[in-house]
Amino acid sequence: MSGRLEKLASEALGELSGASVIEDALQVKTKYLGRKGSVASLLKELGALSPEERKKAGEAINAVKATLEEAFDAKIASIEAAGRAEKLRNERVDITLPGRRVRPGRLHPVTQVMEEIEEIFSGLGFDVAEGPEVELDYYNFEALNLPKDHPARDMQDTFYVNDEVLLRTHTSPVQIRVMEKERPPLRVIAPGTVYRRDSDITHTPMFHQVEGFMVDKGVTFSNLKGVLTHFLHSLFGEKTEIRFRPSFFPFTEPSAEIDIRCVMCNGSGCRVCKGSGWLEILGAGMIHPEVFRSVKYDPEEYTGFAFGLGIERIAMLKYGIEDIRMFFENDLRFLRQF
Ligand code: PHE
Repeated sequence: MSGRLEKLASEALGELSGASVIEDALQVKTKYLGRKGSVASLLKELGALSPEERKKAGEAINAVKATLEEAFDAKIASIEAAGRAEKLRNERVDITLPGRRVRPGRLHPVTQVMEEIEEIFSGLGFDVAEGPEVELDYYNFEALNLPKDHPARDMQDTFYVNDEVLLRTHTSPVQIRVMEKERPPLRVIAPGTVYRRDSDITHTPMFHQVEGFMVDKGVTFSNLKGVLTHFLHSLFGEKTEIRFRPSFFPFTEPSAEIDIRCVMCNGSGCRVCKGSGWLEILGAGMIHPEVFRSVKYDPEEYTGFAFGLGIERIAMLKYGIEDIRMFFENDLRFLRQF
């Protein structure tokens, strides 16, 4: 018995020392110490021995069993420790490496200018309204005193969806939508996206406008001048020279275009102002009586002014950008400058 026991112990320890992963070590452990293992079957033989021999042999087997158990546990612990050490080595972080900078996002320059304009007008008590970009011909043209055969429709090259539906060419239809729903007094601005079939370094088929209008009893052209002068001075600086020129829009009468002194050359004449020293910035006028009639306001009772401006154009002048297409190329080198 003692010879077999010794052999068994040395075999078990030999196999164990060959195990390099936990699974193998456990397999060896089961083979020798498991319920059906070698040690268990030796214990079964004890019944055939005399009481004296049985006691001796039992003690010897138990001693070997204890030795093996200790060896197995030590082996498993050491495999685990080696694994942990290996993992730590692989996951080592070099804390001396410089970090990767997280660049925070920022608002698009068009959005920034839009928000600045909204802020100036909300300081004057204007509310913000919105309207649909896919618009009915009625709101975009007809209700704005531009009937179907009106020659002024040629001024705007329109994307039509069908005969009655189009992509709005300006934000002026929001005037109609707001006035249909509400009664004066009204002070509203309507920022949004508009579409025209136009594409070169100062035009993109999609761009942004802000519409503004004020309607009440007794609103005059001098209110228009006062509000827009305040607005342009807030946006471009108090010293900016402003000029009102007569113009034409079907939905305003009288109509004006408003220029500021060229911000690039200060009036001496340059490429941006095409040598004139002035930059056209706004279209505006007193809301046409026909427009009031189409929303069932009495033009004898109410008067109002309206204006519209292109946001990209303002942003180009403010930031000295020469090509409007840069706003929509999403080149991070461009966008990160704002
Ligand atoms: N809707 C005009 C345009 O797109 C601008 C405008 C708005 C003019 C309101 C007068 C009054 O050019």
